[in-house]
Amino acid sequence: MARIDISFNGNQALIPRAEELARELNLPLAITGESNSDFQLVITSERLELRDVRNPRLSPVCVDFTSLDLRPYSNNLSRRQPLARAIGKKTRTVVDATAGYGQDALLLALMGFHVTAIERSPVVAALSRDGLQRFIKHTGINLSGRLQRVMGDSRSLLPALVPRPDAIYLDPMFPPKRRKSAAVKKEMQLLRDLVGDDADAVELLDICCAIAGDRVVVKRPDDAPPLVPEPSMSLTGKLVRYDIYLAQHWADA
Ligand SMILES: C[S@@+](CC[C@H](N)C(=O)[O-])C[C@H]1O[C@@H](n2cnc3c(N)ncnc32)[C@H](O)[C@@H]1O
Repeated sequence: MARIDISFNGNQALIPRAEELARELNLPLAITGESNSDFQLVITSERLELRDVRNPRLSPVCVDFTSLDLRPYSNNLSRRQPLARAIGKKTRTVVDATAGYGQDALLLALMGFHVTAIERSPVVAALSRDGLQRFIKHTGINLSGRLQRVMGDSRSLLPALVPRPDAIYLDPMFPPKRRKSAAVKKEMQLLRDLVGDDADAVELLDICCAIAGDRVVVKRPDDAPPLVPEPSMSLTGKLVRYDIYLAQHWADA
């Protein structure tokens, strides 16, 4: 289990925010540069960033959605791209049950789906919240309530959801892939160091299959086997594959 503490970048005005975050996440407050932890969540005047105390030469990681291409008809927002097609034309409500930094959940909300994003790591959820707040401030985009964020473990939260979502989306941690950019590698490596491998992903998929109204979609590397054999269908995207498990199929199985 990684040790984490909270700090601020030397500006005394940030102390109250650092104290509040420390209370919220139940983590100790430390002075930057005097930490005994593995990681430090540092509040700066611009953002919340995660620093690797064990390797200070690594630059800090923050969640930044401001470079997403959001021009009308950009690939990110197109309902013709594999992610949107995998979620389904008739789908209105989606639970992203492994929300992580929240990029996929945000893209789905921007495409018009009503998304509930669940993340169980409080540190990852705090980074994601900060990224989303800066994105909204920077772009002025109004998601009109289409993105709701929830902290907790989807295995226990999903069975209590009313009404059931049309689709559940899963993107569990998977082994590092060959052709990733250095930037993606750094963020994903830190995420992996923080949350570890999602060894309970098959259990989560089982729960999702019993709850989704229409389908469960699992994102996988394009060269990895399905999380559980025999999805109803698959769509291949750039370096990833979306395996789709239709409710009708497992009800009949
Ligand atoms: C690969 S990341 C997801 C990345 C995400 N799709 C994005 O666009 O940023 C996987 C995340 O799922 C979370 N996770 C795994 N199992 C979970 C569960 N049962 N409940 C909630 N979160 C879970 C992990 O903590 C991790 O942050």
